[in-house]
Amino acid sequence: MCGIVGYIGVRDAAPIILGGLKKLEYRGYDSAGIALLDGARIHVERAVGKLSNLESRIATAASSPLAGHNLGGIQLGVGHTRWATHGRPSVLNAHPHISMDGAIAVVHNGIVENYAELKNELLAEGVIFSSDTDTEVIVHMVDRYLRAGMSLERAAHCTIKQLRGSQAIVLISAHEPDKLIAARIGNAGGISIGIGQNEMFVASDIPGILEHTRRIVFLESQEVAVVGQNSLQVRKLAGDPNQTVAKEVHTIAWDPVSAEKGEYRHFMQKEIFEQARAITDTIRGRVDFSNGEVTLENLRITPETARALKRLYTAACGTSAHSGLVGKFMIEGIARVPTEVDYGSEFRYRDPLVGPNMAVLGITQSGETADTLAAMQEAHDKGAIVWSIVNAIGSQAERVSDGTIAMRAGPEIGVASTKAFTTSIVDQYLLACYLAQHTVADIPALADRAAACAKDLARLPSLVGQTLEPQPIYDVLANQFHDREHFLYLGRGINYPLALEGALKLKEISYIHAEGYPAGEMKHGPIALIDEEMPVLCIAIRDNVYEKMVSQIEQVKARNGIVIAIATEGDTMIEKKADYVIWVPDAPPLLTPVLTAIPLQRLAYQLAVRRGCDVDQPRNLAKSVTVE
Ligand code: AGP
Repeated sequence: MCGIVGYIGVRDAAPIILGGLKKLEYRGYDSAGIALLDGARIHVERAVGKLSNLESRIATAASSPLAGHNLGGIQLGVGHTRWATHGRPSVLNAHPHISMDGAIAVVHNGIVENYAELKNELLAEGVIFSSDTDTEVIVHMVDRYLRAGMSLERAAHCTIKQLRGSQAIVLISAHEPDKLIAARIGNAGGISIGIGQNEMFVASDIPGILEHTRRIVFLESQEVAVVGQNSLQVRKLAGDPNQTVAKEVHTIAWDPVSAEKGEYRHFMQKEIFEQARAITDTIRGRVDFSNGEVTLENLRITPETARALKRLYTAACGTSAHSGLVGKFMIEGIARVPTEVDYGSEFRYRDPLVGPNMAVLGITQSGETADTLAAMQEAHDKGAIVWSIVNAIGSQAERVSDGTIAMRAGPEIGVASTKAFTTSIVDQYLLACYLAQHTVADIPALADRAAACAKDLARLPSLVGQTLEPQPIYDVLANQFHDREHFLYLGRGINYPLALEGALKLKEISYIHAEGYPAGEMKHGPIALIDEEMPVLCIAIRDNVYEKMVSQIEQVKARNGIVIAIATEGDTMIEKKADYVIWVPDAPPLLTPVLTAIPLQRLAYQLAVRRGCDVDQPRNLAKSVTVE
């Protein structure tokens, strides 16, 4: 996905746009560009690599009108940070893309799936392309319709109707220098429109404009907005061109500072250490600790629906999918609802047997992951109830759900998901306790257990705080193993998904190859991998599979393997068997994953920092994947 910022107003647009792009750089950072209107012309600067390269280019190009030069009159501009899909990272492939006469500029997030045929049509008309991107067809099509006498808005409508796939598009033109056009088609990354005083903002995500305004309008799919300095008109793409859509103005509660690093070296580090606060916020107001009653304000489910629930499917991607695998234990264990977990990218292609009296839960931090949104759409089309667990406010997942549970983790900027993982697990635990109030209400033993589980949440923030306390082991492990090429992560039961998550965390920020595996499966083949080089991380806390994990550690040691154990404080036996131990406090069995997640995050972080990796913006990645 990509970062988009647009501005129209009386202030100098360049610093506003560049500042906004900086806050959205986690969405894509292989190249960046900015276009500003200067009377009859559009001035563009683009650069490969980080946004800082673009800023340097602007600062040194003294002749550039972007270098702090107020172009006078209304300031109008767009900027973009890119995560390449079509066309490798290069200046020519960076956005904004410009029409041949230099009078139109477009930035884009998504994929134009039919760009090849559109490009051939334009080439046949004599259009000269300057990039290898799919995006460039958009600006030349708008130019074609403008030259045919259409208004910019109509030209945009006619263009967008011909595009297949999910898109978020923002464009400006010297022909109509008093407006931005913004459009959202399908599930591509969102479009947020910020309402200021005598100025308006457009961004692909709230943090890009939150310092300027908290008043935000979210575009829905198939909507096109005309954004003036003091005006906003939204129309449906397929609707009556004279009919505007009434849009709700949301006031965002997030504090802009929470989207800053503060005294931390990286966003990921900040977000790891925010987890006690984040989980406190996740739980707040949702549990009556006197009786264990759980309320979920936005789930909107009747007792009858809950009791009729035959099965729950969870669809998610990456870390969120690992969270769903943990949630299965909670929802089946507490609420006794059969639960199946699937990758969002697989769910809709296997003709899932979902339907009425079933629910599909989309777990997504960004709320914009195309594969997860597509799975939720499939569920909806098959008549299932669609719920979501989401962190980003106003996201598409939230808007297309029948009910939603907010993670309340606050902005998560680091590409590697941490507090969203643990808060989404807590949300599923809350969901399990909530459903149990209906699904096992007439089985006293189970109803009492569910209430007791809900009460257990009272201790969780402090247990998380204990797990976040300084432990020298992380520096020891980082110094010892930063140069290893392979890691193996082993877990069982509810901590098997944590083995998958630990391996993903390490892979995505340190680029060390790592594999998560169910410990019980090692003897069926992978044990052949064990040697003196590859560290093996074993999650061996005191739970119902503890003895099995101890045996697993012995099998690894018997083959001269290196064992790093995550163990329950005070477990002297593990201390004797493992080479290294990371301690976590004892906790109720179903809540242990929230604690064991933290050593996995901290270890990955320390190893990545020790290897000099770009922790917050790892290569090839983006914070949310809004393309399929
Ligand atoms: C997590 O560390 C990764 N960055 C990635 O796997 C992420 O969890 C996945 O893309 C899903 O994102 P979402 O939660 O925003 O849907």
